[in-house]
Amino acid sequence: ADLVIFNTCTVRENANLKVYGRLGQLKKIKNKNPEMITMLCGCMMQEESVVEKIKKSYRNVDIIFGTHNIFKFAELLSMKVLDRAESKKMIIDVWKDTTEIVEELPVERKYHFKSGVNIMFGCNNFCSYCIVPYVRGRERSREPEDIIAEIECLVKDGVVEVMLLGQNVNSYLWRGDSQEVNFPALLAMVAQTVPNMRIRFATSHPKDMNDDILRAIATHSNICKHIHLPFQSGSNSVLKDMNRKYTREWYLDRIRAIREIVPDCGISTDVFVGFHNESEEDYQQTLDLMKEVMFDSAFMFKYSERPGTMASRNLPDNVDEEVKGRRLQELIDMQVEISHQSNLKDVGKVFEVLVEGVSKKKSDELFGRSSQNKVIVFPDNGAKVGELVQVRVTECTPATLIGEAIKN
Ligand code: 5AD
Ligand code: SF4
Repeated sequence: ADLVIFNTCTVRENANLKVYGRLGQLKKIKNKNPEMITMLCGCMMQEESVVEKIKKSYRNVDIIFGTHNIFKFAELLSMKVLDRAESKKMIIDVWKDTTEIVEELPVERKYHFKSGVNIMFGCNNFCSYCIVPYVRGRERSREPEDIIAEIECLVKDGVVEVMLLGQNVNSYLWRGDSQEVNFPALLAMVAQTVPNMRIRFATSHPKDMNDDILRAIATHSNICKHIHLPFQSGSNSVLKDMNRKYTREWYLDRIRAIREIVPDCGISTDVFVGFHNESEEDYQQTLDLMKEVMFDSAFMFKYSERPGTMASRNLPDNVDEEVKGRRLQELIDMQVEISHQSNLKDVGKVFEVLVEGVSKKKSDELFGRSSQNKVIVFPDNGAKVGELVQVRVTECTPATLIGEAIKN
């Protein structure tokens, strides 16, 4: 490669450690090919100690920039290219303060049929374990007109599914001179503007998951019936220490509301074990909540302390690594079983599937996702990537639904 970019994430320690591993591997490659340019960006670069470490131990990095000045990417790269012959100096351009949202950046999409669209940046919630508010700055919502314009461009490019993105999309709020647009209003605007596009959104915060949002999902058939609603822990005392601003009872009530207002909604979650003072009892409450809700899928983690957070200052990381490991494994094993149960319930039903590609396991099968965000595999019926196909589910594994396309 002429150029290698690491777009980093520092939310959990594991991802952070991987970057150093990759930089180590890169040393050898770069020795052979000194012309290659390496860039580091993303929220890990917003941590001063990280930049110091890279300056000291990874001299072969050419450019470092942060999350607040991502729009300077092209400028920094051309500086380096012009400069390359003369200077081996590392270019470091990390901004401490958040900038205004910079619109109309050039965008290259990974897929031609689906795309993410940021509707807001940053987070104001300050969950005690979380580094995001420190490295991605305060909450900033984009102007609705700009979001709509971007989505209309995507339609012209042939994109058929869009994912509205933010750390806490439920608190999206645009205050203009003459109008105020909140998240349910934005959802309705997008759904009406592009009626043939499937619309998803992530991530939702339970404290802000109100019935208006659920009604917007229920009203517009092109809004996907899937909600990602991290619960993090089933114990009220742990939730309090986490500064999540809701209780177990509140969370379960929001699940009830989802099931009532959007009956066929897929629900997924994030949870992590081993936070400060998490006892066996607290952990048991997490297991119980998962059994009660029966999530379709879950991202499950072990707590890792992140520098600068409230927890790193006041709430010691005092659960044994071994205990964390055991709890996480149990949680994963249980969720595999629950996901299987959830899939079994879908056997016999018909879903609209957006075709994403050829199955990795069998070349004569296609795969895609249902509105509920479940992966469905089915024999190739000639459909193209990005096409919508009606598929009847005939069987399943814990991770996948298997079906056959219905002839129109
Ligand atoms: N340790 C472990 N998991 C974390 N998450 C966020 N911060 C931490 C941390 N310090 C998890 C949460 C969040 C997801 C994106 O990452 O579950 O929802
Ligand atoms: Fe982190 Fe909490 Fe914000 Fe999510 S809502 S990004 S967990 S501070």
